[in-house]
Amino acid sequence: MTDTISQGGRGASICSFSLPEDRIPSQKTEMTFIRRDADDSYIRALNPCVPVPVLRPGRLTRRAQEFTRAFPGHVLYAVKCNPDEILLKAMHKGGVRRFDVASIGEVRQIRGLFPRAKIYFMHPVKAPEAIREAYVNHGVRAFVLDYAAELDKILHETNAAPDLELFVRLAIPKDTPDGGVATDFSSKFGARPEEAAELLRLCRPYCRKLGLSFHVGTQCGDPEIYSKAVAHAAGVIEESGVAVEVLDVGGGFPAELDQADPVPPIESFTGAIAGAVAENNLKNLELLCEVGRGLVACAGSLVVRVEGRKGDLLYLNDGTYGGMFEAGGSIGLPYPAHLIRREERSYAGPLKPFRFAGPTCDSVDMMKGPFMLPDDVRPGDWIRLDQLGAYGEVSRTDFNGFGTVQKIVVQREAPGAEALKIA
Ligand SMILES: Cc1ncc(COP(=O)(O)O)c(C=O)c1O
Repeated sequence: MTDTISQGGRGASICSFSLPEDRIPSQKTEMTFIRRDADDSYIRALNPCVPVPVLRPGRLTRRAQEFTRAFPGHVLYAVKCNPDEILLKAMHKGGVRRFDVASIGEVRQIRGLFPRAKIYFMHPVKAPEAIREAYVNHGVRAFVLDYAAELDKILHETNAAPDLELFVRLAIPKDTPDGGVATDFSSKFGARPEEAAELLRLCRPYCRKLGLSFHVGTQCGDPEIYSKAVAHAAGVIEESGVAVEVLDVGGGFPAELDQADPVPPIESFTGAIAGAVAENNLKNLELLCEVGRGLVACAGSLVVRVEGRKGDLLYLNDGTYGGMFEAGGSIGLPYPAHLIRREERSYAGPLKPFRFAGPTCDSVDMMKGPFMLPDDVRPGDWIRLDQLGAYGEVSRTDFNGFGTVQKIVVQREAPGAEALKIA
């Protein structure tokens, strides 16, 4: 596949390319086009036949600035959510200097990119080798655990180092069957209150700083859930009877998925957390959060092509094994959808609910939505799905041979020739 880059004036197309006869890129081929916009006309000109992830680093920098200003403590970015280097740098530019990692791969990546960043290893059950390498080679001092055997492992792998920062992960009880979140984060990890209090007592002699952490569950739309979780954590700290220096309120902050039913602004969440911290006499504790979706969702979209239509079911060239994992199964996130018609057509009807089917032959590769689109959508059109900067590309597989994408990076902040790089 060939592509040539040409420069245009502000707002003009800055990429042009010629396509060979065989238009479908070969397996694993990924091209990145740096653009100052990725509007409908550009997509038509690109005429992509594979999914197109669109990254917006400038938007992420602004979101990171907004979040770090609003949160009354330190903001950690949960790298698992999207480890794209362009976005990590945009996050750093926006003021995020601390990172929550889950694996040694993420530790290495963050240390390589940001030598001075503070890294928190927040997977409650880690490989011994990962603990040792993180401590010895990458200066990681903060580790989480939710049962006693993990404490033994950490002490063994670090030779009971005197400068450890240990966090006990607490499970959060649910008020409602779904807990008010898209995915509950207290069924796989997290200690019950009495276990957590005992773990705090166990850890105390072995660490320089002791913390309690929780995660209310991802895509949490209700600030009150954080207030209750903070109160729950305060009870555990009191019950432990030992001094605790750090409270980590986790992630869970929501992405804007439905404009008709907007999520509360970030200040509602940070205000609820600050209020609960004060009410429960925790103001002397260092406060952390570990945000994934709430930071990065807005920084990514995915443009997919409609390959077939049967009534309200659209067959797409991407699905749950690709960049739309969370649209499927029990999570079923209904991403905001925007139709990009193959050619100019006028259509005046209301939006209608659609379901999606992914390109693989697997019947679980279905997405119930509802995805709201004009009824004139037809094969050959594209659909742009927004709020997919989180848990999208990071989960892409090559299953059934559908792993190929063409990526666009929208760079507005560098007008002129500097923007013309192929990553
Ligand atoms: C320990 C931990 N912290 C933070 C996050 C980020 O969560 P969210 O994307 O809901 O903010 C996750 C997500 O898996 C997690 O496992």
